[in-house]
Amino acid sequence: MDKNFKRTLVTTALPYANGPVHIGHLAGVYVPADIYVRYLRAKGQEVMFIGGSDEHGVPITIKAKDEGVTPQDIVDRYHNIIKKSFEELGISFDIYSRTTSETHHETAADFFRKLYDKGEFVEKTSMQLYDEKAGQFLADRYVTGTCPHCGNERAYGDQCEACGTSLNATDLKNPKSAITGNVPVLRETKHWYLPLDKWEPKLRQWILEEHKEWKPNVYGQCKSWLDMGLQPRAVSRDLDWGIPVPVEGAEGKVLYVWFDAPIGYISNTKELLPDQWEKWWKDPETRMLHFIGKDNIVFHCIVFPAMLMAEGSYNLPDNVPANEFLNLEDDKISTSRNWAVWLHEYLEELPGKQDVLRYVLTANAPETKDNNFTWKDFQARNNSELVAILGNFVNRAMVLTHKYFDGKVPACGELHEIDKCVIDEIKESIQALEADMERFHFRDALKSAMNIARAGNKYLADTEPWKLAKTDMPRVQTILNLSLQICANLAIAFEPFLPFMSADLRAQLHMGQLPWQKLGSFDLLPENSDIDSPHLLFEKIEDSVVETQVNKLKEAKKANELKAWQPQPVAPTVDFPTFEKLDIRVGTVLECVKVPKADKLLQFRIDDGMGGRTIVSGIAKYYKPEDLVGTQVCFIANFAPRKLKGVESQGMILSAEQPDGSLKLITPLAPAAPGSKVG
Ligand code: 2FM
Ligand code: ZN
Repeated sequence: MDKNFKRTLVTTALPYANGPVHIGHLAGVYVPADIYVRYLRAKGQEVMFIGGSDEHGVPITIKAKDEGVTPQDIVDRYHNIIKKSFEELGISFDIYSRTTSETHHETAADFFRKLYDKGEFVEKTSMQLYDEKAGQFLADRYVTGTCPHCGNERAYGDQCEACGTSLNATDLKNPKSAITGNVPVLRETKHWYLPLDKWEPKLRQWILEEHKEWKPNVYGQCKSWLDMGLQPRAVSRDLDWGIPVPVEGAEGKVLYVWFDAPIGYISNTKELLPDQWEKWWKDPETRMLHFIGKDNIVFHCIVFPAMLMAEGSYNLPDNVPANEFLNLEDDKISTSRNWAVWLHEYLEELPGKQDVLRYVLTANAPETKDNNFTWKDFQARNNSELVAILGNFVNRAMVLTHKYFDGKVPACGELHEIDKCVIDEIKESIQALEADMERFHFRDALKSAMNIARAGNKYLADTEPWKLAKTDMPRVQTILNLSLQICANLAIAFEPFLPFMSADLRAQLHMGQLPWQKLGSFDLLPENSDIDSPHLLFEKIEDSVVETQVNKLKEAKKANELKAWQPQPVAPTVDFPTFEKLDIRVGTVLECVKVPKADKLLQFRIDDGMGGRTIVSGIAKYYKPEDLVGTQVCFIANFAPRKLKGVESQGMILSAEQPDGSLKLITPLAPAAPGSKVG
């Protein structure tokens, strides 16, 4: 850390309290932030870790309306789920509060008021859609209509989900209010705008000249925003959920959620430290870091800093180490499609495996590009890295100590070349680990930590103390002393990444929580001190565990397809004589067998009341032939005969195509005479 800084304030994006958090949030924001904070704490630095829920905004009001509850009910529900699941995963916030808190409402309103009094806003009127029946202006999400780009009739006012285009509600053709179904009208409304254009030169200088060290993805996004030219941004909305705009003439208006949310970082610090919060926000010796996902870059690097510049008394962030996105099984994570691994469900379904998730998400973190989580990789990383490398080394060192020295740390004698080599190798890994931590390269840092265990494993394999035990006990003492010291190093090195494992290992080794500076020392466990009988740090994950999770995702996909499914449009009208040309009859299945060398085809012998006929039908994937014998089907009796796989089919059996593409046979509700006509 730059020596001019005395302390570090770390914030993480406030998740919206309209749903639980998933692995994408964790990999992008919360796990890396927690790793960094734990690292700073281990180094003995002064650090404050601020989190909380973002509880305003339109999606929360929509969810509440859909469920027939209040927005407060929604945010109470999800805030509690999110808070608890973060705690259980070991995300070590100093405070996790919420933007519906009294402190936040007051702080955000005061912030607005100060900018208002300083004349930092521009007031503008514009035409917005208004629902006369509901008596309210409509947020973009509350308007549906036809997309002007692709013609999708169910586009939302902010986006068309069919073609992905961002929209303004006023762009939609045939707009309708999602509240009443009424056609909205245009009405004039007044809002306050933050003139970002005014701050553009200062922002350019601050980011593009003074923060060239920011991650390329962050710097690049800022540069492209700045190069496009900044426009004034409205900081208020016509809505009844949020923080009321605290000035006269603003009835029915609230602060825009993206205006109040980042102020939540300030409010939460204030709530935690009512008398000292200013030191964390205004003292130039405090360094501020925002951990966020890439979709939040513009708000944290441009909009919030402009707000802070306009206010005038706050520090600006020193770095915004934003990550890219994590995909799940090669598909974009999506809350609305339920394509996600939800943290609270993971904790329930895979109890005691917090560190496995932390490990996999860090090893796979989307630090420089979007990345992918698969359950197969989760299993492989657990079994072949955590179990086979880390857990195995620690276990071997401890088991051998119990076997030869009754669970007491043996004395270290003179070091051989091979001992010095492993020490040097580990010291190199530690150096690399630290350098990567400082640069927010946690993936590489984790690799270096794992290299310590790899070196330990190789050391035991090369020195083979179990063979020396017959001839050279003093040498065995040294080897196991060094191995146990490596275990103690692992407990320190992994603490930021795998805090549960680290606590377990420290307890097994009877060591306290040593500071980071002790890393690279090989006298951490005193000679003759006791160690516990070892138990495994990690367990193997069986195929069935990940199969269950994969099946759960498949189910979600199916349910989602069903939700998105729409019947095909009705075909052009036909008159009765045309209909009558089709001769549909009921028949009873006498025999049914698979057609050889054809996966899809079943061959039926049907009692059609007229001597019987053979029909071939493509439903083999959905029915067992023996189950159909004796049932009744409907078929087109005058369908032109055709040959399928060498069998002449004399008709067509009717079935209904389902949303997932499967077929359901059509059958009369009660037994009907074979050959009777359907019409
Ligand atoms: O994108 C989001 O999930 C926002 N709720 C993040 C807000 S971050 C901050 F400004 F509070
Ligand atoms: Zn469209």
